[in-house]
Amino acid sequence: MTNHSAPNQTPEQLKNKIQQRQARVGIIGLGYVGLPLALLFSEQKFTVTGFDIDQRKVDTLTRGESYIYRIAADEIRSAQAQGFSATADYSRLETMDAIIICVPTPLNQYHEPDLSYITDTTHALAPHLQPGQLVILESTTYPGTTEEVMLPILEKENKQGLKAARSASAGASSSTASAEKEFFVAFSPEREDPGNTTVARCDIPKVVGGVNPQAAELAGALYGTIFHRTVPVSSPAAAEMTKLLENIYRCVNIALVNELKLLCLRMGIDIWEVIAAASTKPFGFHPFYPGPGLGGHCIPIDPFYLSWKAKEFDFRTRFIELAGEINNNMPYHVLASIGGALNQHKKSVNGARVLILGVAYKKDIDDLRESPALTVIELLQHEGAQVSYHDPYFPFIGKGRKYDLQMKRAELDKLGEYDCIVIITDHSDYDYKKIVSEAQLVVDTRNATKGIDSPKVVRC
Ligand SMILES: NC(=O)c1ccc[n+]([C@@H]2O[C@H](COP(=O)([O-])OP(=O)(O)OC[C@H]3O[C@@H](n4cnc5c(N)ncnc54)[C@H](O)[C@@H]3O)[C@@H](O)[C@H]2O)c1
Repeated sequence: MTNHSAPNQTPEQLKNKIQQRQARVGIIGLGYVGLPLALLFSEQKFTVTGFDIDQRKVDTLTRGESYIYRIAADEIRSAQAQGFSATADYSRLETMDAIIICVPTPLNQYHEPDLSYITDTTHALAPHLQPGQLVILESTTYPGTTEEVMLPILEKENKQGLKAARSASAGASSSTASAEKEFFVAFSPEREDPGNTTVARCDIPKVVGGVNPQAAELAGALYGTIFHRTVPVSSPAAAEMTKLLENIYRCVNIALVNELKLLCLRMGIDIWEVIAAASTKPFGFHPFYPGPGLGGHCIPIDPFYLSWKAKEFDFRTRFIELAGEINNNMPYHVLASIGGALNQHKKSVNGARVLILGVAYKKDIDDLRESPALTVIELLQHEGAQVSYHDPYFPFIGKGRKYDLQMKRAELDKLGEYDCIVIITDHSDYDYKKIVSEAQLVVDTRNATKGIDSPKVVRC
């Protein structure tokens, strides 16, 4: 426990604290979303406390080190100088003014939403809840989670009989009497695009939906200190749905180009050339690119949160299902393409030495989650190939939720010894000309070898 007192404050007082950077901000879940968010608040002179159940992460941060590639240790140390600390001790939540939850929202083995991280966090948070605290959920989830799942647990399991503020009156002012029994709840989706350096994080508008106007105003005030623009919507459900629309839009459009790629391959048309030409249209077209399958913690997962919830309303989200079917099939297409390419060399997948280049789910990032490379490796191994991999960001692939590969990164010095090199992730570090010149055969799923004219290259 710190010696700070518990909040017990009116919304007006909390708003003032936020504006004066005196509000204490607690971030639960210090992963790819939570840690950068903690650093943003810290840069704006807030005293931030990070909470995580992973003691190794807490210890790493306490040593002033980082476990995320694009976050330098210096950034952690600057935040520490500003009062940042990490802990696994939930009792310290009692002294926070605002609590932001950034825990995972995966799918379970039946492809259904796994809300256990959110519910575990909420059960652990509830006994420490204080009057006047602002609780914001950032994890991507289906519409209704904040109000139907999180809020009832907070109300039922807090020790002081607190209720979420629901009054419809706008403005942060509220009587002390009601404030003594209330806390504030909002949902605000994370919009980070890992590896994208074209938009500064603070320039990404932040959508906010509060359970009532006061909660929305407080959450808007908090995020307004680190983002240039906040976008209020009428409810947490509208904010939850906004995030899903954004990701479903990407999922469906990627499926569309993946399907058109398969057709173009049959027709002998270069899909990349077509997308580049279509992109010259100054209106009504946004380019999406085909690949070996979807990866990451968002696009392959989030749409299914909505299709699951839709069933409660006797509704089938056919675009999501179809896009999922096409995208999930892409690693199988890659396997078939490798087989076809080896066949041209009078070789089979069975027994072939295959090097996978790039296992991260996308270019220039250190994130393996849901990466199609893992599926392609498993499919190749299943067919009897001897698979190796290289990725500048991963010296080792161990065990994940859905895989257990235990592979050590290969060197890039004997490329000619592989029967086939498969480009799954087009990291900028690779010298593709050199790779093609040394390889026997290259299967390229990303158009990374664009402009390299060689019979050794098969684009798929
Ligand atoms: N990674 C992205 O690019 C991205 C982008 C937008 C939205 N999101 C969403 O943000 C959420 C978090 O994603 P992420 O990528 O940061 O996940 P992550 O796995 O990198 O981090 C989550 C962290 O939460 C911690 N955690 C789990 N349960 C906890 C608990 N009960 N108490 C405290 N800590 C706990 C884990 O140890 C981990 O450090 C997800 O809902 C995801 O869909 C992610």
